[in-house]
Amino acid sequence: MAAQNNAPLPEGLEIAGYRIVKKIASGGFSIVYLAYDSDGNAVAIKEYLPSALALRPPGELVPVVSRPNLPVFRIGLKCFFEEGRALARIVHPNVVRVVNFFRAHETVYMVMAYESGHTLQEHIARAAARDGRPGENFVRQVFNGVCSGLREVHANKLLHLDLKPANIYLRTDGSPLLLDFGAARQTINSDAPMLAPMYTPGFAAPELYAKGMALGPWTDIYSIGAAMFACMTCSTPQPADARRLEDKVAAQLAALDGRYSRELVEMVRACLEPDPLARPQSVFALQKVLQAVPAAPAPPLAEAGKPSGWRGLVGRVKGLGLPKART
Ligand SMILES: Nc1ncnc2c1ncn2[C@@H]1O[C@H](COP(=O)(O)OP(=O)(O)OP(=O)(O)O)[C@@H](O)[C@H]1O
Ligand SMILES: [Mg+2]
Repeated sequence: MAAQNNAPLPEGLEIAGYRIVKKIASGGFSIVYLAYDSDGNAVAIKEYLPSALALRPPGELVPVVSRPNLPVFRIGLKCFFEEGRALARIVHPNVVRVVNFFRAHETVYMVMAYESGHTLQEHIARAAARDGRPGENFVRQVFNGVCSGLREVHANKLLHLDLKPANIYLRTDGSPLLLDFGAARQTINSDAPMLAPMYTPGFAAPELYAKGMALGPWTDIYSIGAAMFACMTCSTPQPADARRLEDKVAAQLAALDGRYSRELVEMVRACLEPDPLARPQSVFALQKVLQAVPAAPAPPLAEAGKPSGWRGLVGRVKGLGLPKART
């Protein structure tokens, strides 16, 4: 999906009892604004505006959707609405709180509690710029919170499907919360093959690249592993389809020996198994590892003087094939 190139709503606009303060972010599917409700509480309002389907020139409020794009625009709108409605039922400290939903300007707006902080992606970029990496305790604490939120999401029969550091938000007190659920995109994509895929390469599980493969909690678990990998290496993991040709992830994980405990590295490796059945099958299983007291970091292989259990595990990853069916 292309970057957002539509004009944002003007600052100061009153809409459904909210006053728009400013645009705070925009992506290919939406624009997010800081706004105030009638009691003066800060909210974040997300406007459904897929830039590939809708056009809003400066000075206009209602986006123009061409006739051929209208059916797909409407499907996406319905899914955005449904997704917001489902999210609104979830009240959990690690999931963004949806407080309202309304229709205006022939599109849909999702109102969330405003959170002050920054994304995990920004945190990783800052750490990389300082030539540092997030430490073991940080990774455990953040992903334990992410897993708590995700358990609640799965308990409500929802999948996130776009977990990545850019969609994990860190409040100023350091607690994480999940943002940006991808269900709407998935539907848009499956109904309009001409659109770019919704998944994020590097963070999307192989089954998201394939047609007809079952999605489930294991799909989000792959992305948890990928997001942890991004934290621990300060780099994006290799996309799942490229791993099928030459898997570099295993060697990159092996290079983490000595920096992080073996249990943590092993957990990331297991989450990133291309075969969905070889991954941990529940988020609860991940939390058990994350909450356990970490052992000392594994010594680098060269120092250990003999192959560790980890080397053997690396070999196992290499031997696994990815699902064959592809789009
Ligand atoms: N509740 C919130 N409080 C504060 N800031 C928020 C909130 N929700 C979103 N944001 C800000 O907006 C950014 C984008 O939000 P989000 O990830 O939901 O949308 P997006 O990636 O732009 O979506 P899409 O790819 O669907 O267009 C976040 O990184 C964050 O900076
Ligand atoms: Mg996002």
